[in-house]
Amino acid sequence: MKDLRQSIHGEWGSRWAFILAATGSAVGLGNIWRFPYVVGEYGGGAFILIYLACILAIGIPVMMAEILIGRRGRQSPINTMRALPAEFGAGRWWQILGWLGVIAGFLVLSFYSVVAGWSLAYVPYTAAGTFTGTETSQVEAIFNDLLASPWQMLFWHTVFMGATAFIVLRGVQNGLERAVRLLMPILFLLLLVMVGYGMGAGAFVEAMDFMFSPDFSAIGGDAVLVAMGQAFFTLSLGLGAIMAYGSYLSKRSSIPGNSGLIAGADTVIALLAGLAIFPIVLAAGLDPDSGPGLVFVTLSYGFGQMPLGALFGTLFFLLLSFAALTSAISIMEPATAYLVETRGWKRPKAAAAVAAAAWLVGIGSLLAFNVWAGFTIAGLNFQELAEYLSTSVMLPLGGLLMALFAGWVLPRSVTTEELALPDWVYRGWLVLVRFVVPAAILVVFANSLGLLG
Ligand code: PHE
Ligand code: NA
Repeated sequence: MKDLRQSIHGEWGSRWAFILAATGSAVGLGNIWRFPYVVGEYGGGAFILIYLACILAIGIPVMMAEILIGRRGRQSPINTMRALPAEFGAGRWWQILGWLGVIAGFLVLSFYSVVAGWSLAYVPYTAAGTFTGTETSQVEAIFNDLLASPWQMLFWHTVFMGATAFIVLRGVQNGLERAVRLLMPILFLLLLVMVGYGMGAGAFVEAMDFMFSPDFSAIGGDAVLVAMGQAFFTLSLGLGAIMAYGSYLSKRSSIPGNSGLIAGADTVIALLAGLAIFPIVLAAGLDPDSGPGLVFVTLSYGFGQMPLGALFGTLFFLLLSFAALTSAISIMEPATAYLVETRGWKRPKAAAAVAAAAWLVGIGSLLAFNVWAGFTIAGLNFQELAEYLSTSVMLPLGGLLMALFAGWVLPRSVTTEELALPDWVYRGWLVLVRFVVPAAILVVFANSLGLLG
């Protein structure tokens, strides 16, 4: 029997609309800010190899599962995870998956918006030529001044959240497609310019060596957990963003094809970001292990040195802010769609409520860089805790549940219809979501808890 359900929130206008919106969700701070800084922290090549393995063996199959659950449910993730288990005779507790995603979404947004605010702050900095010809120590001082100023960060955090809310309240299907289609290729070209600059003026050979010659002796249990978490984070998986976007996807669109395209584009952008950043880091004697500030310090230093740097830099931070925006709106979508469905709120009201809540939580992350830096749990401040709990724990846990749900609860008749794959490929996917993905995630969890010795 054919499934004829429709979403009350409407459908994407075309196949490309979904791919562009989902790519807009995937490509963001995760690629350009977080990927290089965790690669730097966890030592380079071996970490990247584990990360790539996670994208292929866990990320892509989970993305297919998440999209198909969304398209089958046709509701916000919370309500989909209420309706589908009921329909297929599974327990009510599956709805936890939807709630887990909404909570993870607020935690992600809390630091995401603050970091996007840094990117916005860097637009006027670079435009004014602040970095032109400066020493690395000055560039670091400028970044540290921003961190030390809660009011300045609050201003940019507010601008970013406001812009996000504005787009979400108009409905994600409107206008997003054209903007992503135009701006994403420019961001890609700018990254190529930076890679080119690194080839000519940076320590490119050393950077290639750092990124691609693996040294597994440096890898501990936590590195594997972070690499896996980064794979989920960068592909926007495990919190329902992709499930919500999947619920607006037309029945005619290919889920496996779309997943491959999105994951491929995301991976290329992350690797390019690494190739743009590490040649400068290594040539300028910066510390790859310097944490969340790495990209801001490195790139602004690079823009300060290169010809036309003020122009490229301004454009770059503008586009990075935009890439962050298209990700943030997808993070808000599950909670917004839920309020529309369940409370009967109009979309603008729902979006404003979600953004206001996320703005409040974000203040916690923002203050963690200055006033509240001393408040720590297990050595982590609020922002570090939000980042660790969401990316390394909740997203993989969400992905685990999605894989189990698609693999074991949904009948094969449903998943074969949704995926429309040749039989042997379908079987491969089924083995992955039933056994490989759950086992891998559980082993990585156990390992980082020290349970495996
Ligand atoms: N994938 C986004 C990025 O790489 C972040 C994100 C995480 C978006 C989770 C949606 C859900 O920047
Ligand atoms: Na990403």
